Amino acid sequence: MSEPVIRPYRAADRAAVAEVCLRTAAAGGDATGVYSDDALMPEVYAMPYVDFAPDLAFVVELDGRVAGYVLGIADTAEFIDWYAREWAPGFRARHPLAGPPTAHRPAYSEAQLIADGGDAERMRIPELEDYPAHLHIDLLPELQGRGLGRRLIDRLRAALAERGVPALHLGIDAANVGARAFYERLGFHELPSSRPDVPRFGIATH
Ligand SMILES: CC(C)(COP(=O)(O)OP(=O)(O)OC[C@H]1O[C@@H](n2cnc3c(N)ncnc32)[C@H](O)[C@@H]1OP(=O)(O)O)[C@@H](O)C(=O)NCCC(=O)NCCS
Repeated sequence: MSEPVIRPYRAADRAAVAEVCLRTAAAGGDATGVYSDDALMPEVYAMPYVDFAPDLAFVVELDGRVAGYVLGIADTAEFIDWYAREWAPGFRARHPLAGPPTAHRPAYSEAQLIADGGDAERMRIPELEDYPAHLHIDLLPELQGRGLGRRLIDRLRAALAERGVPALHLGIDAANVGARAFYERLGFHELPSSRPDVPRFGIATH
């Protein structure tokens, strides 16, 4: 196996990014088949990011295929406006209703996921002025625990700092204890609006 390489996102990576999102979307584990449509999770948590800010997306390539990424948004308020205007209408048209229940019965229900996908305002947190950027990061299991998550976050923080963005925030699925430990280890702190069921963390870009 060759060494994983971190490089900027390219348009040809779009389907691979969707696949990584799906395979890490169940509190860090594989969400394939959890919802009636495997496209749902990527359409809410990955595709709008690479479409809006491809220049703030970085991928990890392993043996010629994309197996991880960090997706950044520099100005979340601007992203919310774009998402409401350009993304949410199409999403609502593609997914008007939750599909038939699957055997998985996820805590994050399909009805909630569909409501979130059509609602740009869910991203407007009280700390937005001080923490304008946000991110999503996901690595397939074979890339986890090798220091790549730390390197991806460093890469994005540097890119944001270069643009004069002071700090970033992120939300975690409350069930994802591994991700919480990772962010705390990297020096993220819990934000005032964080709640046990909706944990939120932030960090300066440098
Ligand atoms: C969470 C995730 C991004 C972390 O990336 P990673 O490459 O596995 O983490 P790293 O190897 O860079 O670890 C960085 C530090 O965090 C610590 N850490 C990482 N995962 C940890 C865990 N589950 N428990 C405790 N510490 C952890 C490491 O020990 C390491 O500490 P060190 O640098 O002082 O040695 C990655 O595991 C992942 O994509 N998981 C599945 C999807 C997911 O949960 N995404 C986040 C959604 S919010």
